Amino acid sequence: MEFERFGSATSAFYNFLVSIGAFEWAYAASLKAVKRLVPQGGRLLEIGPGVGALLKKLISAGYDAVGVDASPPMLRYSRAKGVSVAGVSFLLPLRGEAFDAAVALFTLHHWGDHGPSLREVKRVLKPGGYFLVVEADQARMPLVGSHGCTAQCLRDVLSAEFDVAVERRFPLLFAVARKP
Ligand SMILES: C[S@@+](CC[C@H](N)C(=O)[O-])C[C@H]1O[C@@H](n2cnc3c(N)ncnc32)[C@H](O)[C@@H]1O
Repeated sequence: MEFERFGSATSAFYNFLVSIGAFEWAYAASLKAVKRLVPQGGRLLEIGPGVGALLKKLISAGYDAVGVDASPPMLRYSRAKGVSVAGVSFLLPLRGEAFDAAVALFTLHHWGDHGPSLREVKRVLKPGGYFLVVEADQARMPLVGSHGCTAQCLRDVLSAEFDVAVERRFPLLFAVARKP
């Protein structure tokens, strides 16, 4: 299965960007979106937490949150901030129907073939659980190139497994997918 790997140098650079607050706006907006969907204390899964910045905020906000990331160098950073385990979106090392919501920030565009990953996310969500996907809005920020998505693309990809609503809040897209 193809997906984009983050090596030591990329992970160290990403950690530097996070440490200077480069993505703080995106973490704050994502936390706000989670709070609208899941009451405090809810069980959350973050897929692709990277260095763990959003994961740390979710835990501080009172959620029972765990991260799953495919990159060992990224995991070294995130483990210092919360509970993160090694794994991939298309084979989650987690039991079924365990989570109130799953969150994927700036990572879905790295996942390659989405079908197996979306079926896995659906498997680990409780009935009625949410999958929140946050990506850069490629249509409004063409410079992000393949590191973003269009609203239509997110809708098409997610609707294969979920009921989906996509909200555009510049410069981000928030897709709220719900397990029926
Ligand atoms: C651009 S980073 C974003 C990190 C974090 N969400 C943030 O916004 O700071 C993408 C992360 O997703 C992870 N990732 C990519 N494909 C993955 C997959 N198929 N399963 C799990 N993690 C994946 C990478 O290892 C990396 O840590």
